[in-house]
Amino acid sequence: MPVKNRTIFTRDNIEVLRGMDSASVDLIYLDPPFNSNRHYSAPVGSEAAGASFKDAWTFEDTDAAWWGEISEAHPALYKVIDAGGAAGGKGDKSYLIYMAARLLEMHRVLKENGGIYLHCDPTMSHSLKMVMDAIFGKKNFQNEIIWHYHTGGASKRRFSRKHDVLLFYGAGPYYRFNVQTEDYREDKTDHFTRTDKQGRKYRIRRAAGKDYRYYKDHGRVCHDVWEIDSINARAKERIGYPTQKPLALLRRVVEASSDKGCTVFDPFCGCATTLIAAEMLGRDWVGIDISPRAAELIKIRAEREIGGLFPIIHRTDIPKRADAPKRSRNIRHILFGRQEGLCKGCKVNFPFRNFTLDHEVPLSKGGADTDDNLQLLCGFCNSVKGGRSMAYLRAQLRARKIIP
Ligand SMILES: C[S@@+](CC[C@H](N)C(=O)[O-])C[C@H]1O[C@@H](n2cnc3c(N)ncnc32)[C@H](O)[C@@H]1O
Ligand SMILES: [Zn+2]
Repeated sequence: MPVKNRTIFTRDNIEVLRGMDSASVDLIYLDPPFNSNRHYSAPVGSEAAGASFKDAWTFEDTDAAWWGEISEAHPALYKVIDAGGAAGGKGDKSYLIYMAARLLEMHRVLKENGGIYLHCDPTMSHSLKMVMDAIFGKKNFQNEIIWHYHTGGASKRRFSRKHDVLLFYGAGPYYRFNVQTEDYREDKTDHFTRTDKQGRKYRIRRAAGKDYRYYKDHGRVCHDVWEIDSINARAKERIGYPTQKPLALLRRVVEASSDKGCTVFDPFCGCATTLIAAEMLGRDWVGIDISPRAAELIKIRAEREIGGLFPIIHRTDIPKRADAPKRSRNIRHILFGRQEGLCKGCKVNFPFRNFTLDHEVPLSKGGADTDDNLQLLCGFCNSVKGGRSMAYLRAQLRARKIIP
């Protein structure tokens, strides 16, 4: 069943995503937690009070079976995540698995002429770009947009960090894109020295022996560095949500990569900036946020910023997908995650398919045939162990200098 226009879900987006129809949205913008190792709460007394989310990641935050499922079905993606973990530690790996599981579903729900913008910052942008390459295809990468802002303090230990990164990918070669323009900067306008009969300022530029007129009021084509004011204390649209993004930023994304009547989808919608921008521009929209406050915040903003209420559907259930496949998830996927991809005997990391299921305490020695007596061993360790104990296997591996 397609999800209706103007629907907001409040629950974990992975569950909702898995219930959404394939190829059902035209544009995805996501502004997920950045792995900033912080806990965000809206200030008491602000309209957003009560909304909070944590942004620090441990192994317990990921559903262990995803490690196995990604390793089995998407080995390149798994390697990219593993590399991120090798360089950045287990927290980074857990975060990347959490993101990859969701991005795989976003890839499925995006139409083939759609586009996706992943908003992040330099904490994880390098690893997320490789994750995006593995899921959406490197050839579909379009831009690394730098959003440069001026809020926050200055640093004495390094250059002040004043930008976010938006990774923009098309779903395929025929992705939708509308060129955007912006006003020329003040210090660039004195080039427009000529005036036409209607009084419009322009300049002439010569290219390949021909003269071209450039009008000042046409503005300049937007580059991949965006100067847009962030939400400061005086911003009219400020609602007190800790990570609220400016409407101007979302308007540019929505205008560039959708047309009227398209469906805009934000699976981490927070205080609904994307949804408000989509509504203002005549697009359909669907949003998800894990915080129940999100459903109230969009109503407050719709009234204040669009000057009226329109029917908003608030759902907390899981949608049912018309083409739902049977999941192949089983105990091996869970064990792979719990063991973090390592063989219980030799402690070496193997691809999913190299593992065999083993009873830690053999059935012949009174071991139970239950999940908590199961483990994954590589083929070699399994053949050494046979029907014997772990103590026997370890002794054999030590004798062969495979483990200390
Ligand atoms: C950085 S904020 C988004 C801010 C938003 N762009 C705005 O302008 O308001 C990230 C949001 O993701 C939500 N979130 C975190 N984990 C989630 C999950 N698993 N499913 C859905 N939403 C989640 C948080 O509640 C938070 O509102
Ligand atoms: Zn082994």
